[in-house]
Amino acid sequence: MRLNPWILAVLIALLSQTVSAQDNRQLVPMPDMMKNHMLANMRDHLLALEEITRYLANQQYDEAADVAENRLGMSSLESHGASHMARVMPKQMAATGTEMHRAASRFALAARDAELEGGLNKAFAALSDVMTQCSACHSAYRVH
Ligand code: HEC
Repeated sequence: MRLNPWILAVLIALLSQTVSAQDNRQLVPMPDMMKNHMLANMRDHLLALEEITRYLANQQYDEAADVAENRLGMSSLESHGASHMARVMPKQMAATGTEMHRAASRFALAARDAELEGGLNKAFAALSDVMTQCSACHSAYRVH
């Protein structure tokens, strides 16, 4: 029997929908207080990215670097209670977090050099590296 290509297309579409409706992220259990603290940090991460891109658009490179270093970078670890949080995270999740903080500090350095030849491109590439870590963690883990 030959399968009508339209029926085949509909079948494939239905099948891929069921696949994407599945949530394969690993649930990371943690006390409510910690979860709220982490999600508040997350919302600030997104706000920081917004501020950074705004500063880049305004050619305020040092300001972009300061936001990245202080709110996302290695300098933010203490204020985020990172070592406390890392204890309840799977190893790989904590490693992704650490890599995100490192990438943000690398971006801060790149942003300060944005006015050099090709500097802005490097800054954007470094910013993209930060967001790669946000996405990597989000596609692998959930807290609720
Ligand atoms: C180490 C892992 C990890 C990294 C890195 C990470 N996140 Fe998250 N983020 C999470 C998890 C887990 C959640 C909760 C998702 C869920 O349970 O559905 C979350 C939730 C969020 C939320 C929703 C907050 C809310 O109130 O529900 C935002 C916004 C967010 N992250 C932004 C970011 C941004 C921006 C970055 C990068 C600068 C980032 N995150 C990096 C793990 C991470």
